[in-house]
Amino acid sequence: MAKQEDLFKNVVSHAKEYGFIFPSSEIYDGLSAVYDYAQNGVELKKNIRDYWWKSMVQMHENIVGIDAAIFMHPTTWKASGHVDAFNDPLIDNKDSKKRYRADVLIEDYAEKLNQKAQKEIEKAKGRFGDAFDEAQFVATNERVKGYLDQKNAILQRMAKGLDSGDLADVKALIEELEIACPESGSRNWTEVRQFNLMFGTKLGASADSAMDLYLRPETAQGIFVNFLNVQKTGRMKIPFGIAQTGKAFRNEIVARQFIFRMREFEQMEMQFFVKPGEEMKYYEYWKETRLKWHLSLGLGKENYRFHDHEKLAHYANAAADIEFNFPFGFKELEGIHSRTDFDLKAHEQFSGKKLQYFDTEENRNYVPYVVETSVGLDRMFLAVFSKALQEETLEDGSTRTVLRLPSVLAPTKAAILPLVKKDGLPEVAKEIVEELKWDFNVAYDEKDAVGRRYRRQDALGTPFCITVDHQTLEDKTVTIRHRDSMEQQRVAISELRTIIANEVSMRNWLMKM
Ligand code: GAP
Repeated sequence: MAKQEDLFKNVVSHAKEYGFIFPSSEIYDGLSAVYDYAQNGVELKKNIRDYWWKSMVQMHENIVGIDAAIFMHPTTWKASGHVDAFNDPLIDNKDSKKRYRADVLIEDYAEKLNQKAQKEIEKAKGRFGDAFDEAQFVATNERVKGYLDQKNAILQRMAKGLDSGDLADVKALIEELEIACPESGSRNWTEVRQFNLMFGTKLGASADSAMDLYLRPETAQGIFVNFLNVQKTGRMKIPFGIAQTGKAFRNEIVARQFIFRMREFEQMEMQFFVKPGEEMKYYEYWKETRLKWHLSLGLGKENYRFHDHEKLAHYANAAADIEFNFPFGFKELEGIHSRTDFDLKAHEQFSGKKLQYFDTEENRNYVPYVVETSVGLDRMFLAVFSKALQEETLEDGSTRTVLRLPSVLAPTKAAILPLVKKDGLPEVAKEIVEELKWDFNVAYDEKDAVGRRYRRQDALGTPFCITVDHQTLEDKTVTIRHRDSMEQQRVAISELRTIIANEVSMRNWLMKM
């Protein structure tokens, strides 16, 4: 089995074994692409959400948050374009009976061409050393140019087919590229069809009077319909932002990648309202700012890249993804979209209410333009968790599994361990728990030998283990063990709070932005 597949399998099994993520309603054999966050997962998820909220809302005086309802008036989704255009092009393989997104099959093919080009570039880099001029090499090397031109031509043709609704040409492209079903290897495809991703439900008790509703497929619309309420009651001046985190629902066609693509998931979105004509400036600003936020977590610069969209969503005039190197390759983690005035104008039209801003400097009303940042909380979880999970061989030849989570996100910040379960050590350890729990999520563990307890906390991502031993009774010191280096220091109990705070404080982590 490929190494990447192994890694991904480990991620899924570790998440379950250590109480991070369980399949939903598992006793009934689970529900496809729906997952529950367990006792440790819920803490990690909450910490990621808090890290985002603090950097977006608390650290920007011109950004405020809201929490809109999941149910919205159904006309919202007509106005936003989701009823008519929130579709994925699907294709079935007649032999394996597996269903795929036609665009994903083509994009995966194009990505292989891209990887071939990147391989050539890497080889040339090695050959030419410091003298290597990548831009010149890409422009002049026939083979690399060939791969990249072919890739671009494929993506452009696909975008044209999807935009114009020419699904027959999308199928023709799949056939011309001889794309086979990854499951069966067969090229026996159905036609490409559009499939709306929204889940429907009903509001009201009787069948006659019930109103058809949708579960929101994005949190953004809750922000748009509240734009004027927030602007007026918050006396917000453009440019300003409204942020929100919350559940979104999509009936995904292909949902086979654990929490990467779920049918119920959580988004962290921010809509930034700007003067028309200034959107590109802020689009660039938010691209850069959001990437810095990701980099502040220290998972490695090489694991992120931008991908500019070839095919723009119905509301956007520019869009880019921040892609992350997941265990199954680079995939979208966050989207940054310049959404123009599409949404506010559409809501004006459908509601008959004005959604305009009065600019006192220019003495005129206008519908603001919007730059959106939208990151999936579950995808952030997977990104952080999959990079953090490592198998290490130690100097003595033994191995350990360690979850090197950024300590600011770790579910538990410190575990307090009495060396033995007697001689008054548990009592002192519990006193330390009582003291530290005011500031940090801490755990107490007295079961098993201390070495095994260290390993268990390593696997849970706990940055510190604090061991109470007999010396503690004499001089009020403990050993503090660092998860990543496994180094141990002797420190006074009175110093613990400061040591932990320095390491896990959001302030220190966000300052790296
Ligand atoms: N409001 C814009 C919007 O919803 P999107 O690119 O469709 O844009 C934004 O979604 C982010 O939401 C994605 O970058 C991804 O992180 C997350 N996301 C989208 N669909 C998802 C799914 N089915 N499961 C988990 N996360 C998803």
